[in-house]
Amino acid sequence: MLAPMEDVTDTAFRELVLHNTRPGNLDVVFTEFTSTDGLCHPRGRDNVARRLVVSDTERQLLKDKGVKIVAQIWGNNPDKYFEAVRFLDENYDFDGIDINMGCPVRNVVSHGSCSALIDHEPLASEIIKAAREATSLPVSVKTRIGFKKVDTERWMNFLLRQPLDGIILHGRIQKQMSKGEADWDEIAKASAIRDEVAPDVPIIGNGDVFSLEDIQERCYLYKTDGVMIGRGIF
Ligand SMILES: Cc1cc2nc3c(=O)[nH]c(=O)nc-3n(C[C@H](O)[C@H](O)[C@H](O)COP(=O)(O)O)c2cc1C
Repeated sequence: MLAPMEDVTDTAFRELVLHNTRPGNLDVVFTEFTSTDGLCHPRGRDNVARRLVVSDTERQLLKDKGVKIVAQIWGNNPDKYFEAVRFLDENYDFDGIDINMGCPVRNVVSHGSCSALIDHEPLASEIIKAAREATSLPVSVKTRIGFKKVDTERWMNFLLRQPLDGIILHGRIQKQMSKGEADWDEIAKASAIRDEVAPDVPIIGNGDVFSLEDIQERCYLYKTDGVMIGRGIF
């Protein structure tokens, strides 16, 4: 999977990647993260809509190369998730919806959005339920292994009991931002919990992957169903 990257993975960038990928090497691309508050606001909607543009040429490449496209959204209000996901379902042609529970940036975390949800299970649960009820598309969560501390066991035991079609796990905590190394042993721990709790839910590992060979090795060693690449694409 190609990671969602703010100010990077717009339709032009995705088209460049799609153009240069061999069929079979890439399965899913993501939009930049898009605010549910914005999607629910009559004027805000026009501002955030540019994040959801899929050009005709990108659409053709997605089809030719058998790649899915997922819209990533963020926010902290379950009602707005319901409305935003319903709007996306009815007005766009995405293959899935991903909820951002991983962004570590202060101005989203201070509002209780994104990675802040790792420490707020009841709200995270309501948000997932609202998104799930609004669409029949697959719903996934992209998240981290903890907020202020590594918390993989508690957080994965919770997430794997939610009505989700997949989990993308970045092997860092919020406090690390992008610093240090991604901890793939914690990702392996999540895969083991998945085997016990929800064997059908794919876990996609993320963090510091830079080559195709590396992808195969990570899936094998850490028992993930796939890998998401962010900065490695550069
Ligand atoms: C410039 C930039 C923008 C990012 N924007 C988003 C985003 O919008 N949504 C998201 O879930 N993660 C975002 N991320 C995090 C990446 O998706 C990914 O989880 C992180 O970079 C770790 O993967 P990597 O080591 O392969 O880069 C961003 C990362 C970078 C470098």
